[in-house]
Amino acid sequence: MTALIEFVEILRAAGEITRLRLLALLSESELSVKDLTEILDQSQPRVSRHLRLLTESGLVTRHAEGAWAFFRLSDEPGASILVEHLLEQLDRTDTVLQADVGRLDAVRRDHRARAATYFSKVAKDWDRVRSLHAPESAVEQAILDMMDGQRAELFIDLGTGTGRMLELLDGHFKKGVGIDSSREMISVARSKFENTGQQHVFVRLGDIGQLEEYRASADFVMLHQVLHHFDDPGQALQNARYTLKPGGKIAVVDFMPHELEFLREEQAHRRLGLSHAQMVAWAGAANLRVSSHKEIPHNKPGGGLTVCIWHLTDQS
Ligand SMILES: C[S@@+](CC[C@H](N)C(=O)[O-])C[C@H]1O[C@@H](n2cnc3c(N)ncnc32)[C@H](O)[C@@H]1O
Repeated sequence: MTALIEFVEILRAAGEITRLRLLALLSESELSVKDLTEILDQSQPRVSRHLRLLTESGLVTRHAEGAWAFFRLSDEPGASILVEHLLEQLDRTDTVLQADVGRLDAVRRDHRARAATYFSKVAKDWDRVRSLHAPESAVEQAILDMMDGQRAELFIDLGTGTGRMLELLDGHFKKGVGIDSSREMISVARSKFENTGQQHVFVRLGDIGQLEEYRASADFVMLHQVLHHFDDPGQALQNARYTLKPGGKIAVVDFMPHELEFLREEQAHRRLGLSHAQMVAWAGAANLRVSSHKEIPHNKPGGGLTVCIWHLTDQS
């Protein structure tokens, strides 16, 4: 319940043409000030002022990423029910709103084109690694089998890359957040989810070493092909564990020890695979227990990569 004066302030925030247009656009996807300025064709200070009022009223949340700021509709139940109700009353065939959607589509096409250009550069290298292990479909099926019908309130995919795990496990979480330290990867993932209009999935630029804002928030965390990039995978696992609620779970999907030295040079691998004994030790140090693990062997006669899925449970 909201107090009378506060409620009037919220209605005032929504009760203006540009701000209603902003709410309608943000109901489509998370957008940056730059995108919104382009779509509304208004000056950035003006758009920022409207966004500030919407943020202060609690209808919208702001997320800063370096010099950029992204906005999305609030997840807070009171605010989201109110915005949903207001937007239901809007005639979406209104010419102003239709023109906004047209320009939003153009902005999304531009994001897609940029993401595709970047990804085409790295895709070749990824395909080479993929060709060295069991088919992706077998690995993904094993990950789905491991879920065993579980559904998380909050799922965090650390080192999300292009957001593949968020796509694969959609249906197994209420809210999903992908975090990655690469701005380019985040752009690829963001463009993917903004095009599907999935509001319960979003991505954030962030570092596994700095996860304070997610402390004790997640039921389930994924580290898919990420730990081999760390000099100290145990420390990274420890950091991932801080984001878990008591009793939460972590899935680590990574390579078993191998001798493919070129992966260090070409793909920034720091560790040539992770052994089961190492995983048990790192898990123990992070107050996690290895509850199960499954190996998916390669079938490459000249040497390939065996993938292992470790399922870890918080012991606190
Ligand atoms: C091999 S990719 C795997 C991406 C994704 N998990 C998948 O399997 O498709 C590793 C990802 O980890 C990210 N990464 C590496 N170090 C990181 C760090 N310290 N914090 C966050 N992300 C990191 C990289 O940017 C990259 O996107």
